[in-house]
Amino acid sequence: MSKVTVVGAGNVGATVANVLAHKDIVKEIVILDIKGDFAKGKALDSWQQAPIDFYSTKLTGTGDYADTADSDIVVITAGIPRKPGMSRDDLITTNAKIVVSVVNSIKEHSKDPIIIVVSNPLDVMTYAAFKAAGGDSNRVFGMAGILDTARYRAFLATALDVSPKDIQAVLMGGHGDTMVPLPRYTTVAGIPVTEMIGEEELEAIVNRTKKGGGELVGLMGTSAWYAPGAAAAQMVESIVKDEGRIFPVCAWLTGQYGINEMYLGVPVKLGKTGITKTIELQLNDDEMALLKGSADAVKGVMDKFNDMGLV
Ligand code: LAC
Repeated sequence: MSKVTVVGAGNVGATVANVLAHKDIVKEIVILDIKGDFAKGKALDSWQQAPIDFYSTKLTGTGDYADTADSDIVVITAGIPRKPGMSRDDLITTNAKIVVSVVNSIKEHSKDPIIIVVSNPLDVMTYAAFKAAGGDSNRVFGMAGILDTARYRAFLATALDVSPKDIQAVLMGGHGDTMVPLPRYTTVAGIPVTEMIGEEELEAIVNRTKKGGGELVGLMGTSAWYAPGAAAAQMVESIVKDEGRIFPVCAWLTGQYGINEMYLGVPVKLGKTGITKTIELQLNDDEMALLKGSADAVKGVMDKFNDMGLV
């Protein structure tokens, strides 16, 4: 794995590239943006950080898809971010066209790259990329669960006054307010979280997590980038290193959890070929009902995308 393209040189795309470069695990990162000079500037700035932070990963910026040729992995962050008062779903009309055209252009220069989608509304933009790519669903998936779980873990670390390193958790469903954090699968250094925190406080954290992206939009006037960028870079790392790590990922479901033919966040194993295993947890009735509710919400947005007739 040597070449990664990041499409979109905005805050999230630039952070993915910068965090990934710091890991020093790929030979080359190309940042592509319709504003080619802006992408060149972001790449040059990151490259000039290399002698200081000590990495060899080469970064270049471009506005020309020919420069993305033979990419092994493509991370798509292109699209508009939401503004205060908007839901992720409000972005569909603009971002669906962008994501489909990005995938079509990528396909002209790279054969079956692994595609990681970050653009919102995430679950449906991942579906859009899969439809446009027309290939193996195990090679097209979306980044949301690592970010949403990280927010949940960070809130728990603050509440418990412990290191976020020791909080392990799973979160499923769509990347929206219907996402499903799973307290039953949350531990603090192996200890069930319910033994460390009261029910009410935990519920407040679960609710804050569901609106975690919106909280940041409210604070900053635009959506977040540090944690989203780092989360996408972590997915690239687990693919490149082929470690067999398990993460919540927006993946194509074919009957798992009773959900068929749609993208939704579930725990998967990532490897050098993409998703190598989809894990089916034994959810209880309440958890399953929440997951189904989230699937229904995503389905509504998916129908809107299908009605656009782009693919
Ligand atoms: C967020 C955006 C990236 O959740 O969806 O911050």
